[in-house]
Amino acid sequence: MKDILSMEDLTDAQIYQLLETAEKIESEGSFPFHDQKYAANLFLEPSTRTKNSFFIAERRLGMEVMDVSGSDSSLTKGESLYDTVKTLYTIGASLCIIRQSQNGILREIANEVDVPIINAGDGTGQHPSQSLLDLYTIYQEFGGFTGIKVAIVGDIKHSRVARSNGKALERLGAEVFYASKPEWQDDSISTNYLSIDQAVELADVVMLLRIQHERHEQKAESDSYLEAFGLTEEREKKMNKNAIIMHPAPVNRGVEIAGSLVEAPRSRIFTQMKNGVTIRMAMINALLKEEL
Ligand code: CP
Repeated sequence: MKDILSMEDLTDAQIYQLLETAEKIESEGSFPFHDQKYAANLFLEPSTRTKNSFFIAERRLGMEVMDVSGSDSSLTKGESLYDTVKTLYTIGASLCIIRQSQNGILREIANEVDVPIINAGDGTGQHPSQSLLDLYTIYQEFGGFTGIKVAIVGDIKHSRVARSNGKALERLGAEVFYASKPEWQDDSISTNYLSIDQAVELADVVMLLRIQHERHEQKAESDSYLEAFGLTEEREKKMNKNAIIMHPAPVNRGVEIAGSLVEAPRSRIFTQMKNGVTIRMAMINALLKEEL
């Protein structure tokens, strides 16, 4: 496998291979270096976690990093993304990590250039490194996926996290259901929608999503959202004893989740971020060593 563009590209065995490599990296604390290799990180949409955890993962693997942004690259002069990627490869990049807004365009580029590409989030499409770190967090917590009940809650329709995680979790054996405002439900992801109260009470994992205002045509009302559709302190009290809270972040405290719950004992939100570095090391290592 040359690229990781979508969770649908990965077989179950390849997912487990990446989770097990992440476990090994975490237990051994170090990993073989990739001397003289350059990673090009192209982030054309904002990012805190993904961009910086890829940077740390690359540096921990001994790679040099080129940081390419939309605002100070020649993309501003009309150069296409294809020509930008081809240029970075031509001057020495061994790997391109790309976040941008057009669903599916990375597949077309990846088919035309030899450099491995990891999709770091494309529009409302896919976010495979987020999905793998989420899977890794669940795997660490429960030791597997079979029979684990996962509630994906929030702005499903505009979420690349929901699109990446739902089907991956189902094929690994989890039972996945959703809770969302009716206008943010998306039948192409699932028709299995419950009320927020039902979902929270049933779940082993409550996976919350941010309202994706930047992808909405009209600004959504946030003020009454928490009470109607979010994880309040009252709802959290009804969660199963060993159930955990997840969120890909950025979190809007007091909107999709009560601010006090972000760092609650059952929250794994910051664990997810930590796991993001490890799983990205595993992904880069597997692609550059052609082990996937
Ligand atoms: N979860 C996530 O993708 O966060 P960033 O947008 O900060 O990268």
